[in-house]
Amino acid sequence: MTPLRVAVIGGSRYFGRLLVDRLRTSGAHVTLVNRGSTPAPPGVDHVRADRDDEEALRAALAGRTFDVVLDQVCSTPTQAAVARRVFAGRTARYVMTSTIEVYAPPALGSVREPVREPVREPVREPAPEPAPEPAPESAPESAPGAPHPTGPRPGQPPALRAPGPRPVPLPEDAFDPTTWPVDLTLPWHDPTFRDAHYAEGKRQAEAVFATDPPFPFVAVRSAHVLGGADFTGRLAHYVDRARAGTPILVHRDPRPSSFTHPREIADFLHFTALADFTGPVNARSHGELTVTDLGAHLTPAPVYREVSPGEDASPYSFAHYYGMSNTRAESLGYHFSHTADWLPTILDEF
Ligand SMILES: NC(=O)c1ccc[n+]([C@@H]2O[C@H](COP(=O)([O-])OP(=O)(O)OC[C@H]3O[C@@H](n4cnc5c(N)ncnc54)[C@H](OP(=O)(O)O)[C@@H]3O)[C@@H](O)[C@H]2O)c1
Repeated sequence: MTPLRVAVIGGSRYFGRLLVDRLRTSGAHVTLVNRGSTPAPPGVDHVRADRDDEEALRAALAGRTFDVVLDQVCSTPTQAAVARRVFAGRTARYVMTSTIEVYAPPALGSVREPVREPVREPVREPAPEPAPEPAPESAPESAPGAPHPTGPRPGQPPALRAPGPRPVPLPEDAFDPTTWPVDLTLPWHDPTFRDAHYAEGKRQAEAVFATDPPFPFVAVRSAHVLGGADFTGRLAHYVDRARAGTPILVHRDPRPSSFTHPREIADFLHFTALADFTGPVNARSHGELTVTDLGAHLTPAPVYREVSPGEDASPYSFAHYYGMSNTRAESLGYHFSHTADWLPTILDEF
């Protein structure tokens, strides 16, 4: 059988490396497309190009075609527009690694916002009455918002314990990229602007690909990827503060969110490369976590402090709920782990 010809744009930093390994071990022929800051692993074709430079990218890819492109580093509509033009007629399928942040409440006023419908708010159901039973030790999916086996410990400040109304995880249609306005005139080339508008950049990138796509297109909306190798240092932030006895800054009523393991998201992207479904798909482990669920695994136990107005909270403290449903991915045949299966191991990495 001819091996699957896969191009990975990125593939050299965090779970992108695991994705390349996963593809190689499954026998795919992998072409790595990046600027060449690090050497490619053995057995992988390496195309050095800056994806922001359309002509250079086109020239570097001359004569190559792919069964699937896995785009790990598309953060803006301008990058998506370049990729659309360069890869049209060059790939039979295109998978963009997107993010849970597309469901985050848009920061109105922070970008020159076009008139738009808001991202659909999560439905809120009344909190269960009476209070739910504590979850069994080997809990399967905990009801969203219900206490989790790794939940806050007794003695934590009441403000950090209130479960609040029971949120319902968002399905993919809570954000429809085909109706989302795109503004290519914003300064997407500016890294400071791009970082400050990460969620909006991802929304507009999805919109560019999803509208009248020139190839079958999938947006994998990844949950927060929890791992020691996270180059952004988000998990390290918690470990370092717990060890130093420095307070972890949290919202008054931190909401749960969706998480996944680096190997799981790499495996799910591999699954998606081999499949033939299209459209957006959420990817997350079972078992939502709040910031205090994370902290409950830390030794020594962390100290928390509520953020003051205008102060930034710690990376995984969320003021709003926008957890994702993984029902679509599971109905397509992928089975996700439970965060309780791997969270303690992740924290052992430090
Ligand atoms: N971490 C999370 O919690 C999380 C959650 C949801 C979604 N995501 C998504 O996951 C993706 C990142 O995954 P990853 O960190 O594992 O990435 P990755 O696949 O390892 O790719 C990162 C590599 O991309 C290359 N690159 C960056 N800009 C480039 C450019 N202009 N042209 C060509 N190559 C470029 C860089 O290598 P060179 O320097 O050699 O070019 C970099 O090392 C992003 O799309 C992010 O939005 C992450």
